[in-house]
Amino acid sequence: MQIYVPETLASNPPIVLALHGCFGSGEDYFAQAGYDSYAESLGALLIFPTSQKDFNCWDVASAAALSHGNQADNEVLVNMVNYAIETYSADPSRVFVTGSSSGCMMTNILCATYPEVFSAATCYSGVAAGCFAGSPGSSPITSNRSCANGEVQKTGDEWAAQVHAMYPGYSGNYPSLKTWHGTADSLVFYQNLKEQIKLWSTVFGVEFSNNETSTPEIDYTTMVFGDGKQFEAVSAVGVGHTVPIHQESDFEWFGLL
Ligand SMILES: *[C@@H]1O[C@H](CO)[C@@H](O)[C@H](O)[C@H]1NC(C)=O
Ligand SMILES: *[C@@H]1O[C@H](CO)[C@@H](O)[C@H](O)[C@H]1NC(C)=O
Repeated sequence: MQIYVPETLASNPPIVLALHGCFGSGEDYFAQAGYDSYAESLGALLIFPTSQKDFNCWDVASAAALSHGNQADNEVLVNMVNYAIETYSADPSRVFVTGSSSGCMMTNILCATYPEVFSAATCYSGVAAGCFAGSPGSSPITSNRSCANGEVQKTGDEWAAQVHAMYPGYSGNYPSLKTWHGTADSLVFYQNLKEQIKLWSTVFGVEFSNNETSTPEIDYTTMVFGDGKQFEAVSAVGVGHTVPIHQESDFEWFGLL
């Protein structure tokens, strides 16, 4: 775990947990994400953990990872957040998570299994929480590829039931989520955005409202659900697996700008 502490830390600062993709590291993702200038101006803490196993992917496949309190990567990440809250007197009501690729898969899982920890999330090029259930691994090499290839398709009700079974008895709010995907993604197929849409619109109980075309830029469409406060999905036409991180949009979604 690496933590970025801005020169002037706000009192009761917010925390952004930012998760790299497979083959990545916290250091690389810190450089790629470009969140440091936002952390400086907001006095926010940034946590950049590094996964060290399964080709540096996050575990998004094991039964333990797809549940609450079973000491898998999801819980380890929450422990890092709790450490930062204690050490820096950070604000537990302003904890956010984001990530790319495997980091977006884990973001989906943290939203599902530790919803009380995070108030909002954004992520890029991931899959629905639970999509890798039953796969032998979480990486492009160790997984069986069905999920990444978009072959794991369920109804919204099926996805929502799976999410609720990951944390039985939980009846509180889920973190608001804005998830991004490129239409030309050949590693984690675009179908996985559609699966996330079915999952989260059902969990939140929100219907599709409207498409904001050319938003936040040309060739991107922001699909708004409900009043747009709980869930949005951004489709990037012609963009591949690496959807550029949109820092300003992320911090706006977190309610920090
Ligand atoms: C492949 O992984 C998917 C989950 O991504 C799972 O549903 C399926 O059962 C797995 N298939 C085999 C043959 O392991
Ligand atoms: C926009 O809206 C329609 C629903 O009318 C939807 O089916 C379509 O996939 C949406 N998204 C994009 C990126 O065009």
